[in-house]
Amino acid sequence: MYRTNTCGELRSSHCGEIVTLAGWVQRVRDLGAMTFVDLRDRYGITQLVADENTAEEIRNSVAGLGREFVIQATGVVRERSSKNPNLPTGDIEVELTGLKVLSASSVPPFTIQNDTDGGDDLRMKFRYLDLRRPMVQQNLFLRAKMAHSTRSYLADQGFIEVETPVMIKSTPEGARDFVVPSRMNPGQFYALPQSPQILKQLLMVAGFDRYFQIVKCFRDEDLRADRQPEFTQIDCEMSFVEQNDVLNTFEGLTRHLFREVKGIETGDFPRMSWAEAMARYGSDKPDIRYGMELVEITGMVKGKGFGMLDDALYTGGICVKGCAEYSRKQMDELTEWVKRPQIGAKGLLFVKIGVDGAIKSSLEKFLNADEMKALATTFGAEPGDLIMIIPGEKTATQNALGVLRIEMGNRLGLRPKYTFKPLWVIDFPLLEWNEESNRWSAMHHPFTSPKPEDIPLLDSDPGSVRANAYDLVINGVEIGGGSVRIFDSALQAQMFKVLGFTPEQAEAQFGFLMNAFKYGAPPHAGIAFGFDRLVSLFAGLDSIRDVIAFPKNNSGRDVMNDSPSVISEEQLKELHLLIDLKQSE
Ligand code: AMO
Repeated sequence: MYRTNTCGELRSSHCGEIVTLAGWVQRVRDLGAMTFVDLRDRYGITQLVADENTAEEIRNSVAGLGREFVIQATGVVRERSSKNPNLPTGDIEVELTGLKVLSASSVPPFTIQNDTDGGDDLRMKFRYLDLRRPMVQQNLFLRAKMAHSTRSYLADQGFIEVETPVMIKSTPEGARDFVVPSRMNPGQFYALPQSPQILKQLLMVAGFDRYFQIVKCFRDEDLRADRQPEFTQIDCEMSFVEQNDVLNTFEGLTRHLFREVKGIETGDFPRMSWAEAMARYGSDKPDIRYGMELVEITGMVKGKGFGMLDDALYTGGICVKGCAEYSRKQMDELTEWVKRPQIGAKGLLFVKIGVDGAIKSSLEKFLNADEMKALATTFGAEPGDLIMIIPGEKTATQNALGVLRIEMGNRLGLRPKYTFKPLWVIDFPLLEWNEESNRWSAMHHPFTSPKPEDIPLLDSDPGSVRANAYDLVINGVEIGGGSVRIFDSALQAQMFKVLGFTPEQAEAQFGFLMNAFKYGAPPHAGIAFGFDRLVSLFAGLDSIRDVIAFPKNNSGRDVMNDSPSVISEEQLKELHLLIDLKQSE
């Protein structure tokens, strides 16, 4: 037996017991007469001690220990003379009677503790050492607990976990595919799934009724804090259901996770249409932990001779509490910030209500005192508040205001990590206009059902058609998305047509799904949660990298194993990616 106990387990009640522990040497403190060794494993840290009563052989071994050596230590548990209240095992120590080095360690490139001296790159290169740090381990323990809790909840609800293949035919989810060349089929490629979308729909055709899978998905897209090229979904699909059934079931799952894992009761999730979310929060993933809602003032400021406002299709703003004191410099900085291409606002106007009630504004010349007062009242502004205004095209301006609202929310500390405010955003537009390809594309995916009452608009006014599509949003993060699916071949064919596919193209890409629908497809709907996002939200972390054991960096590289990497000429030839000139001669 390697150990009788773990390093997180021993308390005063164990005093007098002979125990054997195994783990990593966190640090050695040699105080002359006494040497202390902090021994660490997954469960905690226990102090070992060698003093003048300890056998010389053991004292010599202790002297030879270095950081991160793996040892097996035997000894007697005793009460510490000076207790450490910060450590669960801080009341006791183990007086060494035996010590064996199981494996020596080179000096680690950074300290293995929560407040490490290692920078990001170094920690990623030596991720297996980074993963020894308790706070990083905690993130993965949390992840495992959430996966376990999800499985048991869904299994209890009658969901069946089915594994779908990782080498598939390309599925359109809006990103680029990662592809895998086929040695046995020269010039042909598998795609890694962006999601198991079509496969789970086929499982519904097959009659599985309630499917789920905690599954890896792959998307070759620009990476951000909340995006990895390979990530995990809690992917689900249900038959003979309507939108409400899906929302209720997955609200149930989410509330279960909050309750089980965080001990939090979230209550019913509000439901908000996409149009309302855009109008009130300037975002399809609104953070509803705080107000600062958008106010439209197009009518109040149009036709006053201010070109920028006269030309705007929409003018709106937010009222930021207590920021009237913002300096000219701060306003200039914010103006430059909203004008960056990522946000794309044409400008930022302001109205400052001084603490004495005096109004200062970049609109002064164009609005009279009464109009200015009316404007302030519309925003519910009080002395000391700052109103920020952006004019422009409607959705783009709402989005810009939405980003500004989040920035101001961050600055004012209105986004506390451990307050959770989930909501459903529903009634998304079915289609969005793609400027680049000059055609409509599906906002969610091509299998999403339009709202039945909007179907007549599909040909005449595609942009106004709403979808039976929904997102779960928590604290401004899109946690999950799904939709009711089209299960009628004729409607699906019409949808492909609107999306600009010829019948031949639709057949080539989705023929197997369309064929399956000919053999009795049940009405079905589903959803997928971004599992990494959900875990990082629960953990209060800003990046999903911290909840993934071996993540990629922002260039999509794994710096630990240095991939992607070149492969040998031999492999390239075998995969038909390099023509062997000698052979082809
Ligand atoms: P969607 O594309 O909205 O829907 O994806 C579902 C959820 O997956 C998460 N997500 C990601 N997480 C990390 N890194 C990424 N690159 C990444 N991309 C997406 C998000 C998102 O809400 N098949 C549909 C679901 C359905 O209709 O049932 C789908 O994949 O949290």
